[in-house]
Amino acid sequence: MRSPRTPRLAKARQNRTPSLEQLHLDSEPLAKIVANVMKGWLDGQLPESCKEGTNGVYFFKDTEGHKTAVFKPIDEEGQRPMSPRMSRSPRTPRLNRLRVSEIDTNKPQETIIPQKPSRPKPSIDCIREFPLDQLNLIKASKSDVNGHGIPAGEATMREVAASLIDQENFYGVPKTAIIKIHHWETLGMKRALLKFPKLLEFEGITKIGSLQEFIENDGSSEDVSPSFFSVDEVHKIGVLDLHLMNVDRNEGNILIKKRKDETKCTYELIPIDHGFCIPKYTQIDGTYWAWLNWPQSKIPFSPRMLKHIDEIDVDHDALILKSQLGIDNDCLRSMKISTLLLKKGIQHGFVLYDLGSFACRSLDDFDTPSALEKVIAQTDEKKPANDEEFFAIFEPLLVASLLVFKSSNSDS
Ligand SMILES: Nc1ncnc2c1ncn2[C@@H]1O[C@H](COP(=O)(O)OP(=O)(O)OP(=O)(O)O)[C@@H](O)[C@H]1O
Ligand SMILES: [Mg+2]
Repeated sequence: MRSPRTPRLAKARQNRTPSLEQLHLDSEPLAKIVANVMKGWLDGQLPESCKEGTNGVYFFKDTEGHKTAVFKPIDEEGQRPMSPRMSRSPRTPRLNRLRVSEIDTNKPQETIIPQKPSRPKPSIDCIREFPLDQLNLIKASKSDVNGHGIPAGEATMREVAASLIDQENFYGVPKTAIIKIHHWETLGMKRALLKFPKLLEFEGITKIGSLQEFIENDGSSEDVSPSFFSVDEVHKIGVLDLHLMNVDRNEGNILIKKRKDETKCTYELIPIDHGFCIPKYTQIDGTYWAWLNWPQSKIPFSPRMLKHIDEIDVDHDALILKSQLGIDNDCLRSMKISTLLLKKGIQHGFVLYDLGSFACRSLDDFDTPSALEKVIAQTDEKKPANDEEFFAIFEPLLVASLLVFKSSNSDS
């Protein structure tokens, strides 16, 4: 075959091997997964696009064709133009309300207007960030396209954040890293290639995203009755959501796995999809926690769980997330707030249900802020200059509000 005259094209054609680089390695098992992914890909096992979800999600396979990892590219986060599923409704009720209008793929997209007029008008320039070749360029766009004050591209970092917080594997968050892929397959690139066909021909495509270990499962928590879940498993998910201030725990974001060797059928619960954890502390209005509707949330915590909650060192967690992922202080504050709620709540005898009811808006009255939102707003009225001042005001207000909440709930 004759070599093309354009040197760059010739070079690209000579070496069309996909490459995969791990930008943020938090565990040894992941290095093995990355190696398996590459082996499988080179063996002809192409990534498979996931049919569910509102973001671009791809399954990578090993040489045998078994799913081994889940890749979520940053430029395909939910409401970005590269997302293959702009028209799909998110499952979380509040996010559903913010569904964006269908994108016309023939025109370069710059602005996406959410249906709710009170939201700031986000703007996206998908070309400016494309291709990315440095991790810190993930933060190039500060547009709030993800909602909840989470900038474009940062859902990816939150997938890693959840994995980092769960180093001990207490919650069972699948191990996750940030990777950079360079390839010549049409991995979610149909929209880009319509506009820039030469891109693929000459240079291939670089994508950055989160790579997570694939967990074999029997579906998600929406597939079976919650009566099959043990109290400990439900509490594990609930405490994780409070630890991370995760606003998007819809039923689909909990995978289930049948437990073997048990006379009674129960399922292990595996938390996934943490792109909406650690939101900006003033934007927690759409928080949805599936477990709030499950009876296990009304049962008191076990001594083991109480010990775990007591041992959470949120300042240490925040330091790690700040130094390793550069998550904003205004977002880290939400994690500090919800962890304080967790710790103070259990001191006052709150069960998971009480904590969730305190933090989430009622689905019957979604326009009224939750008790937690009200305490945050009262604190902000006093204009604290930093975290220290914020929590000096917030903590006593929180405790007072918890006491009122408890007495009004025990009256009813
Ligand atoms: N670690 C994992 N192991 C196995 N399957 C997974 C994993 N992560 C995701 N999946 C599968 O991929 C689907 C989509 O993943 P995920 O929920 O993270 O995407 P999303 O687009 O962010 O979802 P949403 O619709 O909630 O916004 C899940 O419903 C699940 O079936
Ligand atoms: Mg999901």
